Parts: sequence; structure tokens; C-alpha cells
Amino acid sequence: MASEIPEQYPPSRSAEPVEAFFDLVRRRRSIRTGFLKDKPVPDELIEKILEAGRWAPSAGNSQPWEFIVIRNPETREKIVEIFKAQMRDKIEIEEVTRGQRRRVNAGVDFRHAPVHVLVLGDPRTNDAYPMRTKLDKWEAHYFSSLANCVLQILLAAEVLGLGSMYISDVASPYFSVMLKHLLGIPEPLQIYHLLPIGFVKPSPTIHHPRRPLEEMLHHERYDCSKFRTEAQLQEFMQTMSIRGADYRF
Ligand SMILES: Cc1cc2nc3c(=O)[nH]c(=O)nc-3n(C[C@H](O)[C@H](O)[C@H](O)COP(=O)(O)O)c2cc1C
Repeated sequence: MASEIPEQYPPSRSAEPVEAFFDLVRRRRSIRTGFLKDKPVPDELIEKILEAGRWAPSAGNSQPWEFIVIRNPETREKIVEIFKAQMRDKIEIEEVTRGQRRRVNAGVDFRHAPVHVLVLGDPRTNDAYPMRTKLDKWEAHYFSSLANCVLQILLAAEVLGLGSMYISDVASPYFSVMLKHLLGIPEPLQIYHLLPIGFVKPSPTIHHPRRPLEEMLHHERYDCSKFRTEAQLQEFMQTMSIRGADYRF
């Protein structure tokens, strides 16, 4: 459609937007607490955010996503109840396999986000791929496409001054069956991620560390001196990943 083509292509690039882009990607954080439940989020902002998702690149331009915008407080509360119920299994498995203990109620602050966006995937769109691609790697392509869409949504939320986060637990068998039933989602569609969105209280920047670029960068050939040993990987898990004792949500 002509109206969808940007006026100028390729768009002009000045130094400022480039800096703004890098600032945005560094600044975006998963916001898990501090949602302002009484500060309304206008529909126009949510539409803008989803517009960013709509423009995400997808394998074969299959655009496998659909969105459900949930504002109703009772529905959101039901989602939180399902979240808590599925946490019991998750916590038990974590405790048995790794000896780590968490509370069932941990991580439910997203209940205060006034908007929940549920991102769905339609695996039938895999037919958009060339046949060999479909046979070889439909799953990787399908999930990468959905991931691109979600990231664009999260970046758009950040640029519009809103906090957001991932709830990927919704894709677990129990959670997705319960959600499909609650929200009347047709069978072939799959539940991908839930994204609580809202304005948030200003709080100190949460530092979610990233591995230095030089550790992951190889020139021309794989530099085996950078290949991580099991011990180095374990150290990484404990110091940088969410499994680390010092990780702050
Ligand atoms: C595929 C995927 C699934 C995730 N699932 C969850 C989740 O269920 N709950 C959660 O709190 N964060 C979830 N996250 C967020 C990551 O923990 C987070 O992105 C990472 O710790 C880096 O922190 P940052 O997003 O603040 O930069 C998920 C992220 C990705 C990419």
C-alpha cells in the first residue's frame, strides 16, 4: 500500500538519531516492579507500540503475530492467578534439580501494569517459507520472527517512556491452555509472550550486565582462545545470568 511506504527511502541519517538509537538499546530494561497501576496508558500509545511490532522483519514476510490488548482488571488478575499456579511446578523443579528456592508470589508485580499485551503466533504462516526452509527449520524461523516483533514492541515502549517486560511462562502447556480458554483463542494459534506495559516509578537504573564485546567477537575465523571452558561458563552463569545470586530484578 502506497501509504505504508516511508516518504523518504532510505531515510536520512544524522548523528543525533544514531546516538539516540544506541541510547535506546542500552537503556531498555525489563521492568518487573514499580508499575503505576493508576496512571492510564492511552490507546494511542499502545497502538504506536504495536505498530512497531507490525514492522518487524519475519521469515518469508510471514508476519506470524497477533496481539491481544488486555486492560480489564479482572482478566489481568486471572492471568496473575494462573501465573502463580504454574510457578509451583517451576519452583519445585528448580529446587529439585538445582536446590534453588523462590517464592510463588515472586515476580507478580506485573499485575500492576495497566495493559497486558499478549503476543500470539500463528504457525500456519509457515507456509510462507520456501518448502525446503519449511521442512528444515520452520521452528527457528517462526520463533525468530516472533522474537523480532516482541523486541520492537519493547523498544517502542521504552522510547515512549513506558516500562515493559517479558512473561514467557505463558507459553508453557498449562499456562497456554488456561489462557486460550480464558481469552477464547482459536486452537491453531499459539501463545508466545505476555508483555505487561505501563508507566513506572522512577527508580535507580537496574544493571543487567552484558558480556564485553571483545569476548564474543572473532575476526575472519573463530578465535579458539576465546572458546569458553565449562568453568568459565559456570562463572558467567553465577555472575551475569539471572541464576547468579547477586542478580537484581
Ligand atoms: C525469550 C526471552 C524470555 C524471557 N522470559 C522472561 C520471563 O518469563 N520473565 C522475566 O522476568 N524476564 C524474562 N526475560 C527477560 C530476561 O531475563 C532479560 O531480558 C535479561 O535478564 C536481560 O535484562 P534486560 O531485559 O533488563 O536487559 C526473557 C527474555 C527473553 C529474550
